Amino acid sequence: MSWKDWVRGAEIEPSIYAADFARLGDQLTTVMDAGARIFQFDIGDGHFVEPVTIGPIVIQSIAGPVHGRGGVLDCHLMVSNPERHIPQVARAGGDSVTFHVEATSDPARTAELAREHGLEVGLAFKPETEVEAAVEAALAAGVGVVLCMSIEPGYSGQEFLPESYERIGRLRELLPEDVFVQVDGGVKLENAARVRGAGAELLVAGSAVFGAGDAAAAYAELQRAVS
Ligand code: DX5
Repeated sequence: MSWKDWVRGAEIEPSIYAADFARLGDQLTTVMDAGARIFQFDIGDGHFVEPVTIGPIVIQSIAGPVHGRGGVLDCHLMVSNPERHIPQVARAGGDSVTFHVEATSDPARTAELAREHGLEVGLAFKPETEVEAAVEAALAAGVGVVLCMSIEPGYSGQEFLPESYERIGRLRELLPEDVFVQVDGGVKLENAARVRGAGAELLVAGSAVFGAGDAAAAYAELQRAVS
């Protein structure tokens, strides 16, 4: 299976980072009942980004239930030396890894390592990185997804950076059609349709889904806004 099999048009990807970990299983079931299938799983190492977030032992706990419903764990590696984490993510049950262009000196080699471990691959870039540089690295690495960060990576619940609309458009223009554009950070009901219109196929939403009183309804409303 690959990104092309997973993406059904435009997708809202709930970001597990914003979930309530005391009832993670229930929250995942609730949003899967509402139709969610692709989840972003943010691994932060306290070095590439300030916070230590969640890691492979949590993947291990949720991979069975998520895969059992046809779901996918899309692991965003907010880490230095992504190569060190890739084997563990694969063993724990991750489906794809998206590493940062700023975190590796050889994106093509990192991508190859991920594929050797049976993972799909994406490449992420921060707001201060040039779109053109990310595209060049993504094409050299042969990734299926390019993630345009619309916040500084690290924390959930930040405001969407408005300059991202133009960056998303430029990214969509420069990438071949079969490489998906993903956007992460500050996506909510008020901006989701515009983010989609700018060229994103995968819209990550953390607090807008799990921070809502009714996560299933919030997911469904966001998904409607981009469909
Ligand atoms: C932060 C993470 C995001 C985060 C998004 O760096 O990559 O996925 O969970 O959260 P919101 O949607 O609340 O901005």
